[in-house]
Amino acid sequence: MATEKNWQSRLKQPQDELAVDFVESLSVDTRLYKYDIAGSIAHAQMLSEQHLMTRDEFRQIKQGLTEIAEDIDRGKFRFDKKYEDIHMVIEAALIKKIGDIGKKLHTGRSRNDQVCLDMRLWMRDRIAIMTELITDLQKALIKRAGSDQGKIVMPGYTHLQRAQPILAGSYLLAFVEQLQRDRERFADCFKRVNVCPLGSGALAGSSLPLDRARVAEILGFNQITRNSLDSVSDRDFCAEYVFAAGLTAMHLSRLAEDWIIYSSKEFSFIRIDDAFCTGSSMMPQKRNPDLLELIRGKCGGIYGNLIALLTMLKGQPLAYNRDMQEDKKQLFDASDCLEGCLQMAAAIVAHTHFNRDRILADLEDGFLDATALAEYMVNKGVPFRQAHQLVGKLVAHCEVKDLTLIELPLEQLQQACEKIENDVYSHLSAANAAAHYATAGAAGQKQLQDQLEYWKNKM
Ligand code: ARG
Repeated sequence: MATEKNWQSRLKQPQDELAVDFVESLSVDTRLYKYDIAGSIAHAQMLSEQHLMTRDEFRQIKQGLTEIAEDIDRGKFRFDKKYEDIHMVIEAALIKKIGDIGKKLHTGRSRNDQVCLDMRLWMRDRIAIMTELITDLQKALIKRAGSDQGKIVMPGYTHLQRAQPILAGSYLLAFVEQLQRDRERFADCFKRVNVCPLGSGALAGSSLPLDRARVAEILGFNQITRNSLDSVSDRDFCAEYVFAAGLTAMHLSRLAEDWIIYSSKEFSFIRIDDAFCTGSSMMPQKRNPDLLELIRGKCGGIYGNLIALLTMLKGQPLAYNRDMQEDKKQLFDASDCLEGCLQMAAAIVAHTHFNRDRILADLEDGFLDATALAEYMVNKGVPFRQAHQLVGKLVAHCEVKDLTLIELPLEQLQQACEKIENDVYSHLSAANAAAHYATAGAAGQKQLQDQLEYWKNKM
């Protein structure tokens, strides 16, 4: 019907069917309905307080909108794409339900300020949920780090080559640090999300006596936006949110990569419970870490969401343009994807065990204690650069003779460096090397305890 859309009277022809399909966003923005209705009720309340509608009109609008929300909750609402988006579909339903009074709801409002209000309300909730999911994953990591498994001495890597011994707990807490920054990033983003744009209208505000601060207060916003043009065209908060999601996803991807490697036959450092492994349709013996691979793979999608958002924004003249309707798909996809990855990661962490015996079996391969020997010499007065060279030669010798450093007799060690004494052996081996870490934040037992203590107080 030619007059179905609320702006139809201006246009002489009904909208072409192709155009109806192309312009609609209902298929994406339906999920904003609760926020759209909450925003509308707050707006109507303010209108009544400002005598732009009567109290009774407000009461009827609130009642109508509440019923619409219930209908949508129960799956009883018919979404017709000819109404374009969630804002118009709800307004049309309200007018159908309560008649002409419903036509007062959009007073002093545009979909341009309405849609960014809805997204900000949606995002406040999502940030709270995201924060919880990140915290759950942190807790799973901390629990494992604080268990007996946390005390396992394992090889630490640089360049994926054996480097120095570390405690499994220290390794696990490294991810907790990453996730803490992710949480803080979302919390920081929240500050800029929690600002109310309603009352900015289409771009220039309104001549009506709207009380913007009142709407902000009703909806629990910290403050109102300062500039109406900026309010309706600003999607920085969306880009920030997706960036925060992308960085978090990158951290999960790195954890996934490590554990994919660690679960291989060659490493066998960890074993993921069967419930979180997949099989092969052809090879009967397979136990694959597909879930971790998916976490790694999905990360790229979130980067894509971010690039799509930024690119969508870069060429737009002030203020609102319909390009911006495309923001929601990117935002929702990134958000859903990360929420799924966080849940999956937490479950995997809770269902993965470090293979102590396997790790121990070849812990002395790869000279993890070489740096410890050099630092031992430094403590005996040898300049570090010289100690480094001496140990390098000893390692080369051991490699040829198929020995570890601790297997070298004292005389031979003393031949290399006369400052070496019998106490050297309490510094050699991976476990002894790890036991001597002295610096704050190091990968040893004392520092692990300190960090566990810190997280216990913090969580
Ligand atoms: N569905 C639109 C969006 O998501 C709502 C705003 C439309 N405003 C307009 N003037 N066409 O951005």
